[in-house]
Amino acid sequence: MCGIVGYVGSKEAAPLLIEGLKRLEYRGYDSAGVATLSNGAFTVRRSPGKLSNLIARLEGVSTPGTTGLGHTLWATHGRPTEGNAHPHTDCTGRIVVIHNGIFENFAERKASLLAAGHRFTSETDTEVFAHEVEAAFEGDLLAAVRTAVGRLSGAYALVVSSSEEPGVIVAARSGPPIVLGIGSGESYVASDPVALAPWTRDVVFLEDGDLARVDAAGFSICDADGRPLKRVPHRILWDAVAAEKWGYRHFMLKQIHEQPTALAETLGGKISLATGELSLESELLAPERVAAFDRVLLLACGTSWHSALIGKFLIEGMARLPVEVDYGSEFRYRRPVVDAATLTIGISQSGETADTVAALSEARRAGSPLLAVVNVAGSQIARMADAVVATHAGPEIGVASTKAFTTQLAVLYLLAAKLRESRGLGKGLTPGETAALAHLPKAASRALATEPRVEDLARQFHGARDFLFLGRGPHYPVALEGALKLKEISYIHAEGYPAGEMKHGPIALVDENLPVFVLAPHDNWREKTISNLREVKSRDGIAIVVTTREDAEIADAADEVLRLPETSPELQPILSVIPLQLFAYHVAVRRGCDVDQPRNLAKSVTVE
Ligand code: F6R
Repeated sequence: MCGIVGYVGSKEAAPLLIEGLKRLEYRGYDSAGVATLSNGAFTVRRSPGKLSNLIARLEGVSTPGTTGLGHTLWATHGRPTEGNAHPHTDCTGRIVVIHNGIFENFAERKASLLAAGHRFTSETDTEVFAHEVEAAFEGDLLAAVRTAVGRLSGAYALVVSSSEEPGVIVAARSGPPIVLGIGSGESYVASDPVALAPWTRDVVFLEDGDLARVDAAGFSICDADGRPLKRVPHRILWDAVAAEKWGYRHFMLKQIHEQPTALAETLGGKISLATGELSLESELLAPERVAAFDRVLLLACGTSWHSALIGKFLIEGMARLPVEVDYGSEFRYRRPVVDAATLTIGISQSGETADTVAALSEARRAGSPLLAVVNVAGSQIARMADAVVATHAGPEIGVASTKAFTTQLAVLYLLAAKLRESRGLGKGLTPGETAALAHLPKAASRALATEPRVEDLARQFHGARDFLFLGRGPHYPVALEGALKLKEISYIHAEGYPAGEMKHGPIALVDENLPVFVLAPHDNWREKTISNLREVKSRDGIAIVVTTREDAEIADAADEVLRLPETSPELQPILSVIPLQLFAYHVAVRRGCDVDQPRNLAKSVTVE
């Protein structure tokens, strides 16, 4: 949520900041700004709206300096105007600040700073921090930032620079991520290593409570009391090119098409296709540890929560362990029954979602061991967990999650098989399961081949006001995901529902204007789902059925049929979601929506 880039070195900072911000714009695009320092004075340039507005603004004007900070904002305080855009400055213009997160006691601190004579120019909580640093500054920026963070409560990733200490950036973290990039004779700071991909892969993630002093020669890290800390550098393996569009019109479309490769990457190294052997080497999943678990708790948000709902089917069905699923944002505010006999699994693409992080901390406090299913290596959730199973989906830049979802499902399937093995209910994968996994990437490619048909459906139905998505069993979460994809990028109202529940309410919505996606693969739920399909048809709804075989009954009841390759019932959701992703994409394009940066959203939600 919000993007930060900082640079200190010998090159002109402004073009580098803009290049880094372009890679982070998916994190927020309500406004953007940069500040550079030259000859003892900052040049601050800011614009409301997208980064392109800021770029236009910088054209032909000088923004000199080899130290600089840049930001793309997802607004939390005040309207996204130029005045509220970051960076913010103190009364003297000698201190510039960028902040991701929320200061909870900012109103109280602002009143006290106003009373002390400070002058404010924005409605933001961030500006308070600039004035706190100004008030505390006695020639040492790090010391002033340490004092200032002590006066504010809440979540923050902060970068601060001062004209009194040129060539230095101070960073601080409590909640939202901050990463330091190590260059040669230059250093970087960012909210996500993706921003730094072209320049360095050697990064250091700040931990909660860390403060860092960064200059061209390197960095030092300390805690809130100034005690030095050691942090281990990570080498990020992602290739910078993975964060490019490669000729696709949007990142979302590219990421949908990357699913066959992403699935192959995720499965590779975790199973032997020759023997069905599972190599999820983790002490936490060893038989003696698993014997102590009497249930599993899955915690996640958004699309990752939909993965968790399918994970429940997989783990209960294959490993015969009871599974509870909860939203990160709900779990943390109830009194859950969790203890050391509960295996908690956190699922997150970014590994930084604040609600999921907080929920996992809650489970940890109750004594539960943590396993993380994350895409971003080195992310907060990966670092806090006792064990990590990575989805190797590669960077997801488009805000709508696609390949992260399908690779999460692949990992949850392997985890279910591993838990089954450790509980003595089977050895590795059966030959049938191994073959299904071996064919999965190819089957995903074939599912992508529905695109021309899906595009045609988008052409027919992009004007509809509402959509309903129905499914049973593990296809109920797929229905939820289809509806979420459509609403978040096309702004059309869509609901996902368990097909059998339709008659308890949503059936009242069905008329000749309502397109209804019915997920009806050839599995145990097929007959029941076909009954629900007939209920839709007898109320004149427009039935678009996603199925797996030639099926006369379905053909008879449906208005439109999309046929997908068939795999095992447990893996079928991975294929069924693909035409729904494509549908949401093509509808959004036809409606002229900003597919990769839908309004009001941001890629990684690091505030509560
Ligand atoms: C939807 C979407 C969000 C995320 C949610 C959790 O397309 O992207 O619903 O799934 O914000 O994010 P992660 O998985 O990063 O924890």
